[in-house]
Amino acid sequence: MRKSSAIKISKQYKNRIDFGYLWIFSNEINKDDAPKDISYVEVYDDKNRFLCKGVYNPFSLIAIRVLSFLKEEKIDKEFFINRIKRAVEYRKNLGIDIRYCRLSYGESDFLPGLVVDRYGDVIVIQFYSYAMEIFKEEIVAALIEIFSPLCILIRNDFYQRDIEKAPQDKGIIYSKDKVTDNLVKINHLNCVFLVNVFDGQKTGFYYDQLLNREYISKIVKDKEVLDLCCYTGGFSVIAGVAGAKRVVGVDSSSYAIELAKENAKLNNLTKNVEFIEMDVDKFLKENTEKFDVIIYDPPSFVRSKKDKKSAIKKYSEIVKNLLKKTKKEGVFNFSVCARHIEDYEVVDIVINSLLKNKQKGFIIYTGTQSLDHPIYAPMIAETKYLKFISVLME
Ligand SMILES: C[S@@+](CC[C@H](N)C(=O)[O-])C[C@H]1O[C@@H](n2cnc3c(N)ncnc32)[C@H](O)[C@@H]1O
Repeated sequence: MRKSSAIKISKQYKNRIDFGYLWIFSNEINKDDAPKDISYVEVYDDKNRFLCKGVYNPFSLIAIRVLSFLKEEKIDKEFFINRIKRAVEYRKNLGIDIRYCRLSYGESDFLPGLVVDRYGDVIVIQFYSYAMEIFKEEIVAALIEIFSPLCILIRNDFYQRDIEKAPQDKGIIYSKDKVTDNLVKINHLNCVFLVNVFDGQKTGFYYDQLLNREYISKIVKDKEVLDLCCYTGGFSVIAGVAGAKRVVGVDSSSYAIELAKENAKLNNLTKNVEFIEMDVDKFLKENTEKFDVIIYDPPSFVRSKKDKKSAIKKYSEIVKNLLKKTKKEGVFNFSVCARHIEDYEVVDIVINSLLKNKQKGFIIYTGTQSLDHPIYAPMIAETKYLKFISVLME
C-alpha cells in the first residue's frame, strides 16, 4: 500500500472539483506543506475537509490529477482493474472492437494522464502525467491480469513529457516471450494494418480517426483521392478498399511511406494506390492535378496557445491551395489535431479560404475523435482535440 501525503487547497477551488474536474493547478495549492517530489496525495480544504485523492507533481502546472473522490477508496491494483474494466465495458457497449482500440484515454476514463492502446496481444502505455508513474507497477499488473497480453510496452517518448520535467523513455516493461518484431498486425474497419509499436508515431497508429475514415469510405467509390499526410495509409487503404478509382498518399516520413506500401499490399491494393515520400509544400508546387476527394490530416502545428495564430495562418495557406485542387463537386476534408483550436476556428479557416478563392461549398460533415477517445463533459476543452470538416464543392 502506498502512503499518501496531505495537501491543502483553498475553498474557492472546491466547486470545480465537485463538478468532476480532475485537475488542480499549481497556483491553487498551499505549497508550504506540499511534498517536494512526485507523490500520492490526499487533498483537503482549509477546514480540513477531505476533497479527493490523486497524484501530485511539484514540477507541473497541472499539479494534481484526481484519481478518486472517495476517502475510503484504496488506490491499488484492484482500483486499476476496476477502472480499466469500466473503460472496457463502456467500449463494448458502444460496439468498439476492444482488441484494437484505445483502452484508456486518460481523464475521460478516470485514469488521468494514462493512455493505453491495445494492438491485439500487444499493449502500449503512455504516461502523460509523470506523477501517475507512481502507480506504474499496479497499472501493469492490472493490464496483465485482465488481458494476459504477450507484451506491454512503454512509449514515454513524446514532447509533452518535457513540460512535466519527466524523462523520455521507451521499452518493453512486460513480455511473455522474447519479442523479435516491431510490427503488429491489427484489424481496423475491415482492413488489415501493420503497426510499428516501437518506433511509430504516438503509440503506432491513429485509432482516433476511425469514424472519419468510415465517413471517407462512403464517399470515395470510383473517385480519385489525394491523402496528404497519409502516415501509414490509414485513410488511403480504407479509400482503396472502398472502391476508389485511384489513391495517392503523400507523407514526408520515409518509414511511414514504406509501411503504407506494405499496408496497401496486405489489403490487395496493388494497382490503384500509390504512395509518395515528399513534403506537402513540395508536392503542391510540383503537382498540378485536381482530385475528386482530398484528405489533409497534418500534424498539430499548435503545441501551446502561443502557437495558435501562426498555426491558423499556416493551415489557411495550405487549405486555400487544396480547395483549388479539389474538383467541382468534389469533397475536401481537413483534420485538425489541436486542443487549442476551436471548432468554429476550423470552420473559419475553411470559409475564409473559400471566400479568398471565390469558391462556394457546403459543409456536409463534421467529425471528431472516435468513441474510444471519449470527451469528458466537465473537461471538454481538455479532452476534445480532433476536429474534422468535410466540404462539398459547388
Ligand atoms: C496526424 S499524422 C497523419 C495520420 C494519418 N492521416 C493516418 O490516418 O494515420 C500527420 C502526418 O504528417 C506527416 N508530416 C508532417 N509534416 C509533413 C510535411 N511537411 N509534409 C508531408 N507530411 C508531413 C507526418 O509524417 C505524419 O505522418
